[in-house]
Amino acid sequence: MKLFLDTANIGEIREAWGWGVIDGVTTNPSLVSKEGRKFEDVLREVCSIVDGPVSAEVVSTDHEGMVKEGRALARINRRIVVKVPMTAEGLRATKTLSSETIRTNVTLVFSANQALLAAKAGATFVSPFIGRLDDVGNEGMQIIEDIVASYSHYSYRTEVLVASVRHPVHLVQAAKLGAHIATLPFPVLKSMIRHPLTDIGLERFLKDWERVPK
Ligand code: G3P
Repeated sequence: MKLFLDTANIGEIREAWGWGVIDGVTTNPSLVSKEGRKFEDVLREVCSIVDGPVSAEVVSTDHEGMVKEGRALARINRRIVVKVPMTAEGLRATKTLSSETIRTNVTLVFSANQALLAAKAGATFVSPFIGRLDDVGNEGMQIIEDIVASYSHYSYRTEVLVASVRHPVHLVQAAKLGAHIATLPFPVLKSMIRHPLTDIGLERFLKDWERVPK
């Protein structure tokens, strides 16, 4: 399973990229607004660090506006994938952009039906938001299972990108279901690394090593 970092923070991206475990980055308007910088400047810097897909979201809601914004975003860097909301206009924009070989990520997906439509429209990635489904009392991971199972019968090229990941258990579940990608916040990536038994074990090894004659 590929791992994308869900952030627009350059410090986090630089550090995680250095660990050699990140395959791309996803951003959204809320994440970009936290940085207090121009969107284009952030994107250029992210693309200079990350050798992989970088999702950048349009904010227009009509087909024409989304396509115009999407083309401009794609011109910034070849790594940019245009993130488009899961609406009827968003599907039209996905179809148009993909016919121009501009990669797309259909976002704000909350059902397997929406994911089927995104694949039909030619999306490169589809982003089901599992954490937000959990928040309203649904089992978010169930739609990942449904989408992966539905896609498996057909030859869609769309990759399932598990989004709105909140904790490390989500990652294990997504990988067991065979999702292509999961995008995760930096704190979740850090908590995937840590295990108390690793820390205790390392401390013991280093202590014992002090007693080895030098
Ligand atoms: O980037 C989309 C998604 O990952 C947002 O997650 O935590 O705001 O639901 P969250």
